[in-house]
Amino acid sequence: MTFRVLITDPLSEEGIFPLRQSENLEITIETELSPNDLIAMIQDYDALLIRSQTTVTREVIENAPNLKIIGRAGVGVDNIDLEAATEHGIIVVNAPDGNTNSAAEHTMAMLSALARKIPQAFLSLKNQIWDRKSFLGVEIKNKTLGIVGLGRIGTEVAARAKGQRMHVLAYDPFLTEEKAHKLGITKGTLEEVLNQADFISIHTPLLKETRNLIDEEAFEMMKDGVQLINCARGGIVNEDALYDAIVRGKVAGAALDVFEVEPFVDHKLLTLPQVIATPHLAASTIEAQESVAIDVSADVVSFLNGGLVQNP
Ligand code: NAD
Ligand code: MLT
Repeated sequence: MTFRVLITDPLSEEGIFPLRQSENLEITIETELSPNDLIAMIQDYDALLIRSQTTVTREVIENAPNLKIIGRAGVGVDNIDLEAATEHGIIVVNAPDGNTNSAAEHTMAMLSALARKIPQAFLSLKNQIWDRKSFLGVEIKNKTLGIVGLGRIGTEVAARAKGQRMHVLAYDPFLTEEKAHKLGITKGTLEEVLNQADFISIHTPLLKETRNLIDEEAFEMMKDGVQLINCARGGIVNEDALYDAIVRGKVAGAALDVFEVEPFVDHKLLTLPQVIATPHLAASTIEAQESVAIDVSADVVSFLNGGLVQNP
């Protein structure tokens, strides 16, 4: 029996090798589909492979009578209607480990760039201005990094921050004293993290419970001059509340990789000189993209051929 696999986001060619190798799979790659194009096409496919660009809505799922498996080449599955998938007996697999290191490295790059105003200084120099006064930074050594969400990525960020001689204070409902002790960090409540941190980095998934977790009230609890990094998901930090907190001087800077609505070409947060940003690039390395695509491809091949999956 031949199965049809649709790939709708750019995936590493090396990473989809397990699919290419499989003789009973027919692969279609269409990375510029509109939501309506996807709804029209999906009925013919047994498997769908995506990254974060494609949104798999209930409507997509209801128009997919043959769909058996959705593979998310990455961690977050917030772009898939999981309830609808479950109702229709469609299994969802992701790649939870493949981009952990890249996301942690990107977070640390954002932290350094934020503390030393590197993007702003570069922009100034590109505009042919030699300005040394406007970009006075702060050291991160001996500062407290507050981590909200100490899962795979948060833990890697904590280890790196320790290496930079920062104090790490983390909140995660599942963090034990034992794990905190082993990592050489302090376990705190969300309030303690918000109250005490000089830099705060968000590493939770986007869930009902974490949407707008960092809202006006949360900003109120933070230290004056705090700096925020969000390389997790747009929607966890309320963008209007962040904008207001920066304008009134509560927040000294923010480094954002993710946004409530993506993609976009202009955004009010980017009008603020205190904000630095990347267009959802934390997992965009050769290594991570190859790894996440291999993981989901292997699960798709196995599942379609009656085998087990590693990351349901
Ligand atoms: P993970 O599941 O290993 O860790 C998430 C942690 O968040 C868990 O330990 C969980 O207990 C904790 N958590 C859940 N709810 C919480 C809450 N209310 N408060 C505090 N902690 C809470 O996931 P991960 O691999 O570390 O990835 C985290 C998120 O980062 C992903 O869900 C994804 O959305 C995002 N991500 C983004 C990029 C990017 O390109 N920007 C790349 C990879 C992952
Ligand atoms: C993820 O959740 O893994 C990230 O959004 C990375 C991505 O898919 O680009």
